[in-house]
Amino acid sequence: MPVPAHRLSRTAVSKTVNNKIPRVTDPESFIRKHTRLAPAPFVPEIHLHQADEAIALWEETEGEAAGPQPPPFWAFAWAGGQAVARYVLDNPDLVAGRRVLDLAAGSGLVAIAAAQAGAAHVTAVEIDPLAVAAIAVNAAANGVTITATLADVLDTAPTDDVILAGDVFYSREMAGRMLAYLRRAAAGGARALAGDPGRAYLPKADLREVAVYEVPVVAALEDAAVKRTTVWEVMRRLPQPPPSGGSAATGATGGYREA
Ligand SMILES: C[S@@+](CC[C@H](N)C(=O)[O-])C[C@H]1O[C@@H](n2cnc3c(N)ncnc32)[C@H](O)[C@@H]1O
Repeated sequence: MPVPAHRLSRTAVSKTVNNKIPRVTDPESFIRKHTRLAPAPFVPEIHLHQADEAIALWEETEGEAAGPQPPPFWAFAWAGGQAVARYVLDNPDLVAGRRVLDLAAGSGLVAIAAAQAGAAHVTAVEIDPLAVAAIAVNAAANGVTITATLADVLDTAPTDDVILAGDVFYSREMAGRMLAYLRRAAAGGARALAGDPGRAYLPKADLREVAVYEVPVVAALEDAAVKRTTVWEVMRRLPQPPPSGGSAATGATGGYREA
């Protein structure tokens, strides 16, 4: 039975990384044992350790850690991440020579694409320790260097030149925090892009469509075998003009600037 992505979100929205959650003791062996290395369907240049089924793997994870665990998002190439990775590989100037952050990196797919496209430095952040291990394993499999970090950076000031996020609008709380971070990044002069296949909490304001793809996905996770997926850029918002005494010009709603 298909498992809608939102059903996998029950523990993935915590604001801080909870160090008290029990951990899988040998994450690298666990990842290798429960996945196979295969090309990402829409980004075949990149090989990832992927699983075919989410719920059984989630149960395996909780059994191995002897306690509750987040869903194994890291074992799949999500539609949003595949779209951003495709866009980055096809438009390397976006990241070449720049400091790049893959926000909520999962498998590290987007981070690997950024490294392959010539980024000066790539950081991938995750709140799931198994994902951090998967990013390291997947980076090695693709021969690239990525700094994989266990952290929730969403309440901090962005410092990278380019922020990339794949499939992060599937829960209300997470979507709000992600968008706030991406907006702060754009306001500070960074490029901020997010890939999304139409998840429930995708915000539309301040977003500019930069690419649309038909992305093959794991049918057991989604309600379809292919998802139309958009890469959005969060636009830098220009300051609102001050009110000017009721003239027609006061109808202006503020504007956006190409980053
Ligand atoms: C649907 S997966 C997408 C993974 C990857 N970007 C992709 O597109 O394949 C969402 C990921 O967000 C991570 N996540 C959720 N909240 C987070 C936060 N506050 N900071 C970092 N990662 C977070 C989850 O652990 C999960 O791996």
